[in-house]
Amino acid sequence: MKATCVATSNIAFVKYWGRIDDKLRLPMNGSVSMNISGATTTTTVEFDSSPDADVVELQGKTLDEQQIQRVSKHLDRIRQLAGFTSRAKVVSHNNFPMGAGIASSASAFAALTVAGTAAAGLELSERDLTILARQGSGSACRSVPAGFVQWHYGETNEDSFAEQIAPPEHWNLHDLIAVVQTEHKAVSSAQGNALVSTSPFNEVRVREAHRSVEVIRRAILDKDFTTFGEEIEREAIRLHVIAMTSRPPIFYWSPVTLAIIQAVSQWRTEGLESYYTIDAGANVHVIVQAQDAERVVQRLAAMDGVQDVLRNQPGQGAQLVNEHLF
Ligand code: PMV
Repeated sequence: MKATCVATSNIAFVKYWGRIDDKLRLPMNGSVSMNISGATTTTTVEFDSSPDADVVELQGKTLDEQQIQRVSKHLDRIRQLAGFTSRAKVVSHNNFPMGAGIASSASAFAALTVAGTAAAGLELSERDLTILARQGSGSACRSVPAGFVQWHYGETNEDSFAEQIAPPEHWNLHDLIAVVQTEHKAVSSAQGNALVSTSPFNEVRVREAHRSVEVIRRAILDKDFTTFGEEIEREAIRLHVIAMTSRPPIFYWSPVTLAIIQAVSQWRTEGLESYYTIDAGANVHVIVQAQDAERVVQRLAAMDGVQDVLRNQPGQGAQLVNEHLF
């Protein structure tokens, strides 16, 4: 009744931004991502009949009531599948700084799903694990398979799942995260997601996102870096156009975000090929091929306002391990 899972976070190249069903977390469009090797969550789950409430610890501290409720709700989905009501102890550890532009809910809910189902004695297919993880946090479904992953949007619970496009060894892209802001963002992705339909441009973005999924999927399979890079930048900007034109508007960027966007474009004219993508926050993910990583890290680190540069390569999928956290 005890299992531990290590899962990585992921960076979306086509973003999940807007839902057709809030409860089931069914997205308006499919998305594509890469797991990021340097950002892992390790989670141990043990079901025990003695405690009368779920106990949840992250980085050695008990979570607040609202966060525990979200975890308990996810454990309820697992308990329902397993057909028992035992409460659980959950201990979780992130190896990356919180609030550094890395989606911690992706690795957290992927790890919780895989450890929780194993601790409950369930044997689910990878597809079913992604469907379950998605209900805890949308982006988490993409952290279950390894490497480069597509989330098929689907219109029902069973049809909205993630699957691998290519394994991590397929293409050694580096995701260099330029950290420009470490405090928690003022507007959560859940709040932003809820506002998309207030933007007059949302329908156009959803249509374009469907197209981008196909372009980026093909470019990953062909390792066509230029097509891939130009398309991920367009898609990232579209998310922020929707955010900025939502009512009320959301501005995730800081002045340093824009400075990095401009610098990356400038470096390309000098023959240093790198591309940016930005989630719902101010930090910038700069994607480069392995041979250019070192030079781009140095340039980013030298910029005013860049506090740190976190390096990532394509990461593994969510995996069970033998060492438990308690
Ligand atoms: O899964 P959530 O609710 O944390 O949403 C993540 C949304 C983005 O990171 C902005 C985009 C994405 O697809 O990861």
